[in-house]
Amino acid sequence: IGIFDSGIGGFTILHPLLQSRNDIDVFYLADTDRIPYGNKDFEEIRSIAKEICKWFKDKNLDALLIACNTTNACALDILEKNLKIPCFDLINSVSDIVSKKNIGVLATPATIESSYYKKIIEAKGENVKVFQQACPEFVSEIEKTHPDLNKLNYLTNLYLNPLLKENIEEIVLGCTHYPLIYDILKNKIYSNIRIIDPSIALVNKFNNSFLISINNCCDYISYDNVSFFVTAQREEFSKKLKYWFGINKKISLVNLRTND
Ligand code: DGL
Repeated sequence: IGIFDSGIGGFTILHPLLQSRNDIDVFYLADTDRIPYGNKDFEEIRSIAKEICKWFKDKNLDALLIACNTTNACALDILEKNLKIPCFDLINSVSDIVSKKNIGVLATPATIESSYYKKIIEAKGENVKVFQQACPEFVSEIEKTHPDLNKLNYLTNLYLNPLLKENIEEIVLGCTHYPLIYDILKNKIYSNIRIIDPSIALVNKFNNSFLISINNCCDYISYDNVSFFVTAQREEFSKKLKYWFGINKKISLVNLRTND
């Protein structure tokens, strides 16, 4: 299985996946050289997606789990066309789990600009309304080896307030980095607003298609069958894995750029 993101956001997919089964080998690719993706323009995100496909091409994958909403929103067609394997995406998984009428979406500027979440969710019914909010500074702050909690609190207020004014009933975390600050977000919203993490829907969809045998339920999470690859800052990535997830794994440095 291939999983990719610009950084550690893909863990919000990797973690529930490994929690649900232990019968798969994973290549986890983090394009740390070019993070954040979400502040880049549409064409650049599409050309990076082509390089990602090239890198995954000889890995003999059975499926790709797209752990990056930004690439999902701007280049899903490129991933599907080039890899020709089942590609499980976040945005098309979310309509299975939203259930209310007034819905907020927090995501990167590129994802918001695409309005992909808005289109998919509003297609559920005529009176479903989506309010979008771009969060340009979240990813860079979360990716620091020691995130500044004061800054994260300040940014959370800044990004949430416009949505709260719209009386939203559910809020979609439209970037895989945001579930990492779930507790901060949860503290700032009314208790009746449901937080929706599309990664859970994606992992369920994958598990329904690639059946788990009964012996594969896990009592604990093991990262033994996961190989980690980054495109820059190997040491920093390793520190972040320890800080956020308490794991210590070998990380390999790779080059995605086709013209280097
Ligand atoms: N975690 C990714 C996403 O879901 C990418 C964030 C970024 O690099 O800006 O959009």
